[in-house]
Amino acid sequence: MLAAGICKHRVAKVQRSMKACNSELLVLFPSANMLYLSGFYDEPSERLLLLFVPQEGEPIFLAPALYADQIRQSSPVQDIRVWKDSDEPTVLLRRVLAELAPNEAGVLVDDTMWSMFLLMLETALPQADFSPASQVMVPLRMQKSPDELSHMRKASSIADEAFEEVSRMNFTGLTELQVAAALEQAMRQRGAEGVAFETLVASGPNSAMPHYRAGQRRIEPGDVVILDFGCRVQGYCSDITRTVVCQKPSKEIEAVYGIVRQAQERASQAIRPGVAAEEIDRAARSCITQAGYGERFIHRTGHGIGLEVHEGPYINEGNALQLQQGMTFSLEPGIYLPGKFGVRIEDIVTVGEKGAASLNHCTHELQVVE
Ligand code: CO
Ligand code: CO
Repeated sequence: MLAAGICKHRVAKVQRSMKACNSELLVLFPSANMLYLSGFYDEPSERLLLLFVPQEGEPIFLAPALYADQIRQSSPVQDIRVWKDSDEPTVLLRRVLAELAPNEAGVLVDDTMWSMFLLMLETALPQADFSPASQVMVPLRMQKSPDELSHMRKASSIADEAFEEVSRMNFTGLTELQVAAALEQAMRQRGAEGVAFETLVASGPNSAMPHYRAGQRRIEPGDVVILDFGCRVQGYCSDITRTVVCQKPSKEIEAVYGIVRQAQERASQAIRPGVAAEEIDRAARSCITQAGYGERFIHRTGHGIGLEVHEGPYINEGNALQLQQGMTFSLEPGIYLPGKFGVRIEDIVTVGEKGAASLNHCTHELQVVE
């Protein structure tokens, strides 16, 4: 159950931003935004389930009857309007909209809302001006509270311990999927609610593809293996990457690893409140470029993380957003040599008063697995 005080505080904050951008109503769909503001989440489905936040006054849930108890159990939002499977939910939808958006002015809708629901809203409010809810939700969710950070620390330390356990295993002859399963099991045994995203284990030449998942390839001596994984605690995500080598690293692997490690550490050292997000990307990228691998660092340096694995702030060139205390994001530079191997090192860091504090504490030394 989300504490009533936290819910009220978050709703009040979003209502202030709605006032500032002249929005009469915010409409959320089952999403991380709904979870953040109300405490309730379920997988999106074809049944109409929305949370309405008016510019003033209390939020209202419009939900299928079968969800009523689940909402009461997880959310302090009192006003739940339910519809039964035998009802036509748009009748109730029109009634709620007439109450909360009488002027048919600015309406903010969840960015991930399915188009079938957005079309229903557009039909019900033909005069309204629709825009994405991210403009009020992203700034609100970027800075983590001490409570949120404590869940994220727990999720990160579970991931750290899973890496330490799994890196003691014998990798030779295992498939990538078997290593992924071992990581996931190690996280669940330590109290993770589930994985934050599909576990990525990329061996040998597969490691040169940043978003390769895990497959049936068997790990051989001399292979580089990238492990990128994370779990959830109280809905909050962790996300860590470590690159290991099976049995014996080549000179080239050691050299590339050293460059990525330096880039990751430089990025971390550049973090302070007030510094632009793009400066952090530049700190990592200039290291890799100077070493001659600039063309082989083919993604941004990092992404914000919280209730979602990828959220604001994004750490890339072109993002002039100034970092503030409590912002929490990944630092994950990499070098990818097609057909050969890739190296990536990723930690989650939070912006503290004087600089970065890492949520991950696993070693950055190149680990050799058997
Ligand atoms: Co990752
Ligand atoms: Co990441």
